[in-house]
Amino acid sequence: MEATTEHIPVLYQEALDLLRVQPGQVYVDATLGGAGHTRGILERGGRVIALDQDPEAVERAKALSHPNLLAYRANFRHLKEVLKEAGVEEVAGILADLGVSSFHLEDPRRGFSYQQEGPLDMRMGLEGPTAEEVVNTLPLEDLYRILRDLGEERQAYRIAKAIVEARRKARIRTTTELAEIVRRAVGFRAAGHPARKTFQALRIYVNDELNALEEFLRQAEEVLAPGGRLVVIAFHSLEDRIVKRFLRESRLKVLTKKPLTPSQEEMAKNPRARSAKLRAAEKEAA
Ligand SMILES: C[S@@+](CC[C@H](N)C(=O)[O-])C[C@H]1O[C@@H](n2cnc3c(N)ncnc32)[C@H](O)[C@@H]1O
Repeated sequence: MEATTEHIPVLYQEALDLLRVQPGQVYVDATLGGAGHTRGILERGGRVIALDQDPEAVERAKALSHPNLLAYRANFRHLKEVLKEAGVEEVAGILADLGVSSFHLEDPRRGFSYQQEGPLDMRMGLEGPTAEEVVNTLPLEDLYRILRDLGEERQAYRIAKAIVEARRKARIRTTTELAEIVRRAVGFRAAGHPARKTFQALRIYVNDELNALEEFLRQAEEVLAPGGRLVVIAFHSLEDRIVKRFLRESRLKVLTKKPLTPSQEEMAKNPRARSAKLRAAEKEAA
């Protein structure tokens, strides 16, 4: 099945206003995705260097063939290298809208959704070990820690044990097989699907999301021009904590004392926006 969805950009207006896009200036969209935010920057006359580790996102952007858009297939943890390749030393603004896109969630072949049967893949960049390899090979203790630390899953040990028992009988191959193993281990829950946190944890682990974010933030601070702005949208507390701490420890001036969150109206229109938190900061003039 082909993914037919549109990706609705989260906190669109807020992100663009905080970036303070000026015609002719260069901006980095570190998470191109469906190019929603990128389009906004282009419409305001900005030039965009866009990154996405997913080749499918970069292909979609190339189809736009906008003269002011350069799209790279790259992990944003390599931001400085990409800018070097683009021949750019500093930029007027950087946006990161973290996590997976609707294209990922709604395409069963990518293995991100516990609701649709698909291979247990979960690699945004289509490289490195898949979630299938992780659940079938890691020792119990490691699985337990991943679920506890990256999923904030209270029943981490019980689930890790159930995974190890299940894989002794047969290799775990699909999203729905894993979701069923988790459901049997912990039963139904009042809030959300019982496998939600397990899937979150595996996705973060497979994509090394938290380390990539830390590396990206450090480089972002360096490559911002004086007066340049950094805008980051996080979707779960682990990410948001990293952004918040980084901003506190950085030399950037924080523009959002409290993170911005979507309006009720936006949340109703776009359920993916529900957990979004936007933080922004500015590099002070030299
Ligand atoms: C939430 S979507 C971005 C949506 C985009 N702002 C829009 O309006 O269409 C996040 C995108 O960032 C990409 N991504 C996530 N982590 C990344 C990383 N470390 N490096 C590069 N791209 C990443 C994902 O592949 C995904 O396409």
